[in-house]
Amino acid sequence: MSQVYLNGQFMPLEEARIPVLDRGFLFGDGVYEVIPVYQRHPLALERHLHRLAGSLAGIRLDNPHSEEEWTALLLRLVKDAPDSDQSLYIQVTRGVAPRDHGFPQGIRPTVLAMAKPMAPPPAAWLAQGVSAITREDFRWLRCDLKTTALLANVLLRQQALDEGAVECLLIRDGFVTEGAASNVVLVIDGVLCSPLRNHLVLPGITLALVLELAQRHGIPFAERSIGEAELRRAEEVWITSSTREMLPVTILDGVPVGNGKPGPVGQRVLSLYQGLKTP
Ligand SMILES: Cc1ncc(COP(=O)(O)O)c(C=O)c1O
Repeated sequence: MSQVYLNGQFMPLEEARIPVLDRGFLFGDGVYEVIPVYQRHPLALERHLHRLAGSLAGIRLDNPHSEEEWTALLLRLVKDAPDSDQSLYIQVTRGVAPRDHGFPQGIRPTVLAMAKPMAPPPAAWLAQGVSAITREDFRWLRCDLKTTALLANVLLRQQALDEGAVECLLIRDGFVTEGAASNVVLVIDGVLCSPLRNHLVLPGITLALVLELAQRHGIPFAERSIGEAELRRAEEVWITSSTREMLPVTILDGVPVGNGKPGPVGQRVLSLYQGLKTP
């Protein structure tokens, strides 16, 4: 039975309970983090904890744990989980209080952490690529914060699934931002390109690792604004996320990307990324 951490205690998932007045439930007033674990080693743990700290600061919620405390409790979950490849999920909400928009005083945040098994993406997705659709990015203007208020992302991802696609790529005012639950990297004129990491985009840890690998291995890359027309003429389109790593998008809105096959630049970066899994 898998264990979770809830407000200072470890317990079986089935026993974990949150009161209905939790502001995470009522308002989506909380933040979260997802950390991939390979062979019981969390990948880029410090970066994820740093991003969590930034999300908490962004919603004006004190970090309930020091980095050492987070690390200790997460490593205990990792050790006790049945599978060695896992994804760690952390959620911190503003806590439990009578429903009222303003911040309640004197309450403690709700802190949840749990591990679940993580399977690699299906081999066929990597071999043939996946399809994606595009939609207008109708989310709010603080997409750099990893908040639990994900309704727009949920609706956009579902539109992709309804059309038999794997992801929905988002376009705001004519420029690519990211996916419903992923970042986007493209190859345009041989250069690995990703949209600017500003308030409209989650600063993905996988994307950061990918760009660092590109830099270290002399693969030309650029972070810049990418217009919709450039997306449609890109040689390669890839999506990145902690749980799906790097996936090639080979069909976009029903049209083949490049030659319709996963491209060499992304494949090279993906194989370098595999090397990060062994500590
Ligand atoms: C909206 C959004 N952008 C980007 C990402 C990728 O972030 P990371 O690579 O840190 O998992 C995610 C991850 O779920 C996401 O939800």
